[in-house]
Amino acid sequence: MKIAIVGTGYVGLVTGVCLSEIGHQVTCIDVDELKVNKMRAGISPIYEPGLDELMKKNIAAERLCFTTSHEEGFRDAEAIYIAVGTPPREDGTANLSYVEEVARSIAAHIQNYTVVVTKSTVPVGTNYRIKQMIAAGAEGRAQFDVVSNPEFLREGTAVQDAFQGDRIVIGSDSPRAAQIVEEINKPFGIPVYHTDISSAEMIKYASNAFLATKISFINEISALCEKLGANVEDVAAGMGMDKRIGSQFLRAGIGYGGSCFPKDTKALVQIAGNVEHEFDLLKSVIQVNNKQQRLLVDKAKARFGSLADKTVALLGLAFKPHTDDMRESASIVVSRQLVEEGARIQAYDPIQPELATHLLPQEVTLCRTLEEALAHADCVFIITDWPEFKTMDLAKATQLLKSPVFFDGRNCFRLEHAAAHGIEYHSIGRESVGAEG
Ligand code: UGA
Repeated sequence: MKIAIVGTGYVGLVTGVCLSEIGHQVTCIDVDELKVNKMRAGISPIYEPGLDELMKKNIAAERLCFTTSHEEGFRDAEAIYIAVGTPPREDGTANLSYVEEVARSIAAHIQNYTVVVTKSTVPVGTNYRIKQMIAAGAEGRAQFDVVSNPEFLREGTAVQDAFQGDRIVIGSDSPRAAQIVEEINKPFGIPVYHTDISSAEMIKYASNAFLATKISFINEISALCEKLGANVEDVAAGMGMDKRIGSQFLRAGIGYGGSCFPKDTKALVQIAGNVEHEFDLLKSVIQVNNKQQRLLVDKAKARFGSLADKTVALLGLAFKPHTDDMRESASIVVSRQLVEEGARIQAYDPIQPELATHLLPQEVTLCRTLEEALAHADCVFIITDWPEFKTMDLAKATQLLKSPVFFDGRNCFRLEHAAAHGIEYHSIGRESVGAEG
């Protein structure tokens, strides 16, 4: 099938590449000419494991191409996917201007029956608005239907998720359009769930909000574990064995970040507010997460008294491993706090050259290696659980550091391992080891 995808961010590009891999003829459209030229050469503008290889393969097979022109991309397309960003506005509401721009362009260009598939995360009711906008702009020139088809890909494992997802949600009021989208996705072999448009839009927000709730819940439990002498890793494992609870998204840590959970939880609070519903539970989830992101600095202050003139090795800048995305990463909050406290920061991330380090305070020193970041530091903060940190040689690290004091926001080491290496180890929801007194 001939498919056009508008937007080549994490969602659009991965969707486009994976649809070409299952045999469709895909044109990805983006306004950014530099980006498009790069993608034509088979170079992904984002770091996503496995994506470059699939891009190159499908470009060579002439199933995947890139353009800046909507007109060219939409020509003969049986389905047009909207995958542009919906960044949060100052008040937390989703900015829909890019989505609306695409809807206007679709209205201006479509000639034949087209299925418009919305991948972008949009508030309930947006697809009806898209439908109205296209209908008004196309003035009866062409028939079309709108389908809400939210994505559930995780950055860092997006390609794998596209082929092994748990479900594909298709929300439509047109059986014809729903059937076409099901056909498009058939080769993935993933269970399909059909529903109406509004419910599909809500499934996306409710899923992300629920996962964020699980994380904030276990983070609250971790605070209790620390106070009561329990171990949150064991608590989460024991809870997760109950199939009704499930073991995933129960990893206590420095809180959730990224381009999705922080944005979508705030947006859902707003969506609820619009219909005069106070979503108290979700407000607390957000509050707990804000508190969690500040936890490591609070622990370090309690340990050192003052952080003025202390040198901190800040390990990990991305919001999670295997991605170059720093949006809403705890590293930003932590480094700002550390600068306020007068600490010096030696930061390192394995994927640093690709990162948006301009989001960090200018006082941060970016290091090229882990060793450089550790050199003569008074303590270590672990923000991202990159394998390079989890497998770090603690004996070697101890030699490089001024004092081997670790504040680990991702519980990278077993307590016995930390104790065996003689480091002072403060983690999340577990007793501190190696600390005096
Ligand atoms: C999330 C969802 O998991 C995807 O299903 C969804 O498609 C995506 O948002 C989106 O809406 O586009 P993503 O933000 O890429 O995916 O990454 P996650 O793996 O969900 O992690 C989000 C944050 O939660 C990270 O900061 C991670 O470190 C944190 N997290 C995750 C925890 O602190 N504990 C956990 O147990 C799991």
